[in-house]
Amino acid sequence: MKPYVFITRRMPAAIVEMIERECEVSMWEEEETPVPDEILAREIKRADGIFCNVSDTITKEMIDGAERLTIIATMAVGYNNIDIEAAAARGIQIAHTPGVLTETTADLTFALLMAAARRLPEGMEAIKNDEWGAWAPFFLTGQDIHHSRLGIIGMGRIGEAVARRGKGFSMEVVYHNRSRKHEAEEAIGVRYQELDELLETSDFVCLTAPYTNETHHLMNAEAFKKMKDSAIFVNTSRGSTVDEKALFTALKNGEIRGAGLDVFEQEPISSSHPLLSLPNVTLLPHIGSASEKTRWRMAEMTANHVLQGIRGEALDHPVKE
Ligand code: GLV
Repeated sequence: MKPYVFITRRMPAAIVEMIERECEVSMWEEEETPVPDEILAREIKRADGIFCNVSDTITKEMIDGAERLTIIATMAVGYNNIDIEAAAARGIQIAHTPGVLTETTADLTFALLMAAARRLPEGMEAIKNDEWGAWAPFFLTGQDIHHSRLGIIGMGRIGEAVARRGKGFSMEVVYHNRSRKHEAEEAIGVRYQELDELLETSDFVCLTAPYTNETHHLMNAEAFKKMKDSAIFVNTSRGSTVDEKALFTALKNGEIRGAGLDVFEQEPISSSHPLLSLPNVTLLPHIGSASEKTRWRMAEMTANHVLQGIRGEALDHPVKE
């Protein structure tokens, strides 16, 4: 009997066929709606391999119900949605997709930074609402990006790629990370700072750290108060690294100038989300790695990880507990 693999969201035929060469496959056929928890639990119970994504919460309970599962491969670099301790306890391997999405996500991070700094969404709104009158000297003036200071929290692969972009824009780049990154300091020309100093002195604060117990609400009311009132906050990591209510208050009260966000505490957000009532935010629907090339490569990597796990081969990109 062939091993059985469940894919939690509709994938292109070429990706499904990669797995079907060796496995029986079924798939949640929806493209935009996540698989309901009961179905996910039922599939985890009977599958040998799971191909999942950031919108699937894979709990200890689901993992403990698994009867044959050997591999959970997620089409993402972040894996905070999977109980990795429960998986490790059951000897179930987890794979993710680091590296392949680094530059694409750094591009999006920088796009948000630029859009928020130069008020691009407000400019487009002004045109749509016929509010663009005669040229006006101080109409939609924003913040300079060049020769400003960029503070990066979380100097992993994506943080480094954002830092390189900052250097390309003649920014001074500082970073904070759990551990010093001496190689990056040398190679990119970035400087380490304690978190408070970074918050107090940066013109742009970009959060690219993974979501963990330590980074839960890392950006809270106190942190936003430390930022300059002219500064812009950008988040492309996970929504729960930020206390969204505190961010809303900081933006509303002018404690910071603006924000660019690709991730939220509860996704998706709706058009009635309080952040949307503010003019000084640029919001995106979690599309950090969403270029065609990168998403295809992530899907191929994930399919390969499923096959590697099922064959008992070493995974290209295992998540280590
Ligand atoms: C997306 O958010 C990812 O973790 O890849």
